[in-house]
Amino acid sequence: HTYVIIMAGGVGTRFWPFSRTNNPKQFHDVLGTGRTMLQQTVDRFDGVCPPENIYIVTSDKYKELCQQQIPSLTDDQILCEPIARNTAPCIAYACYKIAQRDPQANIVVSPADHVILKEEEFRRTIGTALQATADQDILVTLGIKPSRPDTGYGYIQYIPDGDSDGKNGRPLRVKTFTEKPHLELAKQFVDSGEFVWNAGIFVWNVQAIMAAFRKYLPETAEVFEEGTPHYTTDKETSFIDKAYSLCKSISIDNGIMEKADNVYVVLSDFGWSDLGTWKSLYEVSGKDEHQNAVDAHTMLYDTQNCIIKAPKDRLVVVNGLDGFIVAEYDNVLMICRKDDEQKVKQFVAEAKEQG
Ligand code: GDD
Ligand code: MG
Repeated sequence: HTYVIIMAGGVGTRFWPFSRTNNPKQFHDVLGTGRTMLQQTVDRFDGVCPPENIYIVTSDKYKELCQQQIPSLTDDQILCEPIARNTAPCIAYACYKIAQRDPQANIVVSPADHVILKEEEFRRTIGTALQATADQDILVTLGIKPSRPDTGYGYIQYIPDGDSDGKNGRPLRVKTFTEKPHLELAKQFVDSGEFVWNAGIFVWNVQAIMAAFRKYLPETAEVFEEGTPHYTTDKETSFIDKAYSLCKSISIDNGIMEKADNVYVVLSDFGWSDLGTWKSLYEVSGKDEHQNAVDAHTMLYDTQNCIIKAPKDRLVVVNGLDGFIVAEYDNVLMICRKDDEQKVKQFVAEAKEQG
C-alpha cells in the first residue's frame, strides 16, 4: 500500500538565473552528478514502493520535462496543474486520486529539489515513518537538526520521549509547528535546542490526510471530494481546471501542519539539504583550495569563497573577488555578493518588468 508523491511544480525563484520559470531547478543537474534533481528524487525511492505507485505533481508547463526525464512514468502518473496554488492543493489532488485507487494507501510526500547524501539512512527513516502511519492516523514529518536561524524553513518543537529521545526513529509528538518564522523567533528556536527544521517530507495514510483536509481546509476537501468520480477518466483535466480555480493558494505547512493536533516528527540525519539558494548550493558543493565552488571552465586569480556556475562553452576569468556568486544561464549573467543573496528575488521581479 505504499505510494510516493513528488511535488515538482515550484519555480525556484531564489536560484535565479539558473532556475527559470520555463525550466526550474528540479529539472537541472544542479550538482553535476549526471542526474537532475527530479531524477535523483525518483531514484531515491527505488525499493520504497513499486514504480507504478509514484506520482509527480507539476505544472502543465513541465509535463514534457517530466516525461523526458523519467520516461518510465505513464501519463496517469504525472498529475498536471493548470495554475500554481502552492503545496496544499497539489497534495490534495494527488492524495484524493490515490485514495480512489487504494483507500488504504500509505503515502510519502517529497519535494523534488532536495539533496540527500545518505540514501540508505533516508530509506530506513522513511520505512520507520511508514510503519507508524500504516495503523495510526497521524501526520508525520521529518525533522532535521538546525545549524543556523534560517527563516526559509518550518520549525518544529517536539516533546522528547525520555531515554531514546527519538533516536530510535520513533515518531515524537509535535508541540508546535511554525512555518517560516521571522529572524528573531528563528534565533530563539535554535538557541532553545527544542526545535528541528521541517524537512518538508511528509508521511501519512490517505485517510489521515483526507481527515485533516476536511478539518483544516474544508473548501479544498469539498472541491476534491466532488471530483473523485472523474479521476482516471477523460473528464479529469476539465475537473482539475475547475477545481484549481476554486482552491485558494496555500502551503500544506500553513494550511494543515501548523494547525493539526496529530502531528509527529521523526528526528532524521541523512545528509539533508534544501538547495533553495545559492548559498545552500555553495555549502554542499566540493571546493578548491581557495574555497571556491566551481562548475565552469575558469581562470581564477586572487579569488576566494565564490560560487561560479556557467555553461560549458564559457571561459570565466575572475580576478579579485571574495564571497561572490557568479552565475550565467541562458541570456542572464548575475554577479552578486553571496551575503546579499536574499536580493535575488527582487532581481527576478525587476528583470521580469524589463522583459
Ligand atoms: N506541484 C506543485 N505545485 N509543486 C509545488 C508548488 C505548486 O504549486 N509549489 C511548490 N511546489 C514544490 C516545489 O517544487 C518543492 O519541491 C516543494 O513543492 C516545496 O515547495 P517550496 O516552495 O520549495 O517550499 P519551501 O522550501 O519554501 O518550504 C517547505 O520546505 C522547507 C524545507 O525545504 C516547507 O515545507 C518548510 O516548512 C520546510 O522547512
Ligand atoms: Mg524548498
